[in-house]
Amino acid sequence: MTQDELKEMVAKAALDYIPRDGILGVGSGSTVVKFIEAIGKYKIKVDAAVSSSNKTTELLKGIGVRVLDPNECEPYGCYIDGADEVNPEFMMIKGGGACLTREKILASMAEKFVCIVDKSKLVDTLGHFPLPVEVIPMARCQVARTLKVMGANPVLRQGCITDNGCEILDLHDFMIESPITLEDEINAIPGVVTVGLFARRGCDVVLYATEDGVHTRTK
Ligand code: 5RP
Repeated sequence: MTQDELKEMVAKAALDYIPRDGILGVGSGSTVVKFIEAIGKYKIKVDAAVSSSNKTTELLKGIGVRVLDPNECEPYGCYIDGADEVNPEFMMIKGGGACLTREKILASMAEKFVCIVDKSKLVDTLGHFPLPVEVIPMARCQVARTLKVMGANPVLRQGCITDNGCEILDLHDFMIESPITLEDEINAIPGVVTVGLFARRGCDVVLYATEDGVHTRTK
């Protein structure tokens, strides 16, 4: 089975988590694209959504889903999103698609975060995938210096401007032993918008697809 087929399987399984009434939070990335396609294909009713990227907003509107500004919403029931890595403690690296900040905002507003991945995303220790850090452009070099002192190897993601008008530094070869501490330390650097480490607010459910089907891990 290809990775694409596994993503499709897990995206379909996530339809069961869509609330009957109320707002759905929708993340970004190729697995989420398949999730949105499945909403359209199976004609699932979604009252309204909040979206973590311009692309997701466009796709949701394309299948007739009303997209709200999070400022118009109260905290809501369920946020569904992919991840680049997930550890056994339900902590994640996210931001491969450069949408980490909006994803973190929507995750913070959700009662339940359902993470949808294929089996390749499950890891014991986070950090094989380069950890994204969104930075304000004028702070890029100073943030990179500080990250180097912390032992990271920051690389500017070429040609990438986020939906917030910011840039991304990817931290390569940086195995993460204490995710919560590292999340706090990186977020405290002046000029950092946010780090793509979702340790303080991890997910609550992991749906992961293997050749045997879709499996569920619940916190
Ligand atoms: C985007 C993300 C995505 O959830 C993450 O990159 C996984 O993407 P994909 O479903 O394409 O593998 O965090 O910022």
